[in-house]
Amino acid sequence: MCGIVGYAGPQRASELLFAGLRTLEYRGYDSAGVATAAANGSISIQKRAGKLDNLQMALPLLPTDAIAGIAHTRWATHGEASDANAHPHSDESGGIALVHNGIIENFSELKRELEAAGHHFSSTTDTEVLVHLIESAYQGDLRAAIFAVLPRLRGQWAIAVMHKDEPGRIVAARKEAPLVIGIGDGEQFVASDPIAIAAHTRRIVFLRDGEVADLTKSGAQLFAADGSEVPLRIEEVTTSASTNEKGEYTHFMQKEMAEQPQSLRAAMLGRVTDGTVRIEELDAISANIAGIRSIEFVACGSAYNASLAAAALAERLFGIPARSSVASEFRYDPPALGPTTLVIAISQSGETADTLGAVRAARNASAPVIAIVNSEGSTLTRSADAVVLLRAGVEVSVAATKSFTSQALTALLIVLDLARRAGHLSASDAAGWSKELLEIPEMASSALTASEGMRAIAARFYGSEGFMFTSRGEGFATALEGALKLKELSYLHAEGIPAGEMKHGPISLLGPKHPVVAVVLNSHTLQKLVSNLMEARARLSPVIAVVSGVDEAGEFADETIMIPAARPEIAALIASIPLQRFAYEMALCAGASVDQPKNLAKSVTVE
Ligand code: AGP
Repeated sequence: MCGIVGYAGPQRASELLFAGLRTLEYRGYDSAGVATAAANGSISIQKRAGKLDNLQMALPLLPTDAIAGIAHTRWATHGEASDANAHPHSDESGGIALVHNGIIENFSELKRELEAAGHHFSSTTDTEVLVHLIESAYQGDLRAAIFAVLPRLRGQWAIAVMHKDEPGRIVAARKEAPLVIGIGDGEQFVASDPIAIAAHTRRIVFLRDGEVADLTKSGAQLFAADGSEVPLRIEEVTTSASTNEKGEYTHFMQKEMAEQPQSLRAAMLGRVTDGTVRIEELDAISANIAGIRSIEFVACGSAYNASLAAAALAERLFGIPARSSVASEFRYDPPALGPTTLVIAISQSGETADTLGAVRAARNASAPVIAIVNSEGSTLTRSADAVVLLRAGVEVSVAATKSFTSQALTALLIVLDLARRAGHLSASDAAGWSKELLEIPEMASSALTASEGMRAIAARFYGSEGFMFTSRGEGFATALEGALKLKELSYLHAEGIPAGEMKHGPISLLGPKHPVVAVVLNSHTLQKLVSNLMEARARLSPVIAVVSGVDEAGEFADETIMIPAARPEIAALIASIPLQRFAYEMALCAGASVDQPKNLAKSVTVE
């Protein structure tokens, strides 16, 4: 992952870059660093392990009269989170400073070669080979040196580099990792995300794979992979740097959970109207719809969980194979793909490397691609035939909450609209769906209120050995998501098991110290699920149930959170809200870092 920001111009570089890093912390927070270049070329570097606050204390050590600088916030891939492994990296003479997002897959062989040639390494990162390669290739022109080095690399990269002999110049390059340049007036920028420079310019060029950008304060040039200059494709972006404040809340996660009635309403605005579902953005693929023979959802993590109920609905309505795949598997072992396979990619960030890889595999096979994305202007929005935005607003907390419910809802809306367009959804069925969909914001509000009960439940069960989340049908995706939330936030072991599978092995874990968390929906498998919960209780496992549309939950659960009755697809989505709160409360019990759990990053741009 990692976030990069660079600046050439008259403003105080260290402070401007540090402010940019604050907006990029979602990309990783294992360490951070800044390098600045003075007019005489000398390069100064400060870098610290840990969160940005550690680096902030070192900023006064950097010169105030720098004319350019680059900065980095790291999510560790190769090498532990330490000062030495923090970026920027430099060569032995201190003449080069380089920041990198991505992975150099052939770094071991390159490092062996460089060490044999006499280079000494000061970190255990893959990135450091880049510095030594550039040092070897440098003959007075940084861009030429970088062009000489790039063909030797395997992997993914977004880099920004400075050299002491060319003060004020930054050369940047990308392959399969996001990078933009920002065009200013007498100042130029480079960043992983326009948000890092939005306070200074909205005039952005999104680099394409293989491209190299060359910046000084007075201008920017762009070069294709073959070295030929290409025109700057300047776009005006609306990204705002104000990633909002926590307001009355202690954590962004709390705020983002509370925002769900609004974010869910926003996802439907103009799309669920007049007794039907119609998403204008899908007009872009209307010519493909009649010919679709299979539907493949691809996503990672929570976004994958958000796709499951929609895939099941698609299969039922269309009567054709429809399924969800984890993007990291799909991209290297895809199913049979072609122009009649509709691929629907889901991603909050729109930058998840595996999801982008899966979309590339789909496009290479000429499959039409719909992207469901929250982050406007992200790479995924520029890689699909049709883009449906979540409109959930910025999500700061690493744990997906409002983006998850908006993804699950938007995926359902897309399936319903496609089915309607293909003649698989009658007007009266569409009207029935629309009526219930429009009640979702209200249901989310009441689920938020009911979630208050999770505080006492978490206090009661914190200290358990582990948690088994379970359900059947549509509720199972919610169980998976509940387990994921609990794991990532409270560092407790949890897994999602289909209720009917418990007896095939996992039941041996159960007992008084291993609660079962059940999503109980009023569906055709309700009685089967209840029997499975009774089996768990017979093994003395306490059952915590989030229940929709079922009376007498006390007969199969020790603790219950009641949410509104709705059809299973909708109830499943609403049921995730109390489970988010459960994980949040458990994280508080554990004293964990709620918005920035250890080892994670919001945007996962490595494989
Ligand atoms: C869950 O809370 C996570 N943040 C994670 O699983 C996330 O959903 C996954 O990394 C995919 O991210 P994306 O939606 O940005 O593609």
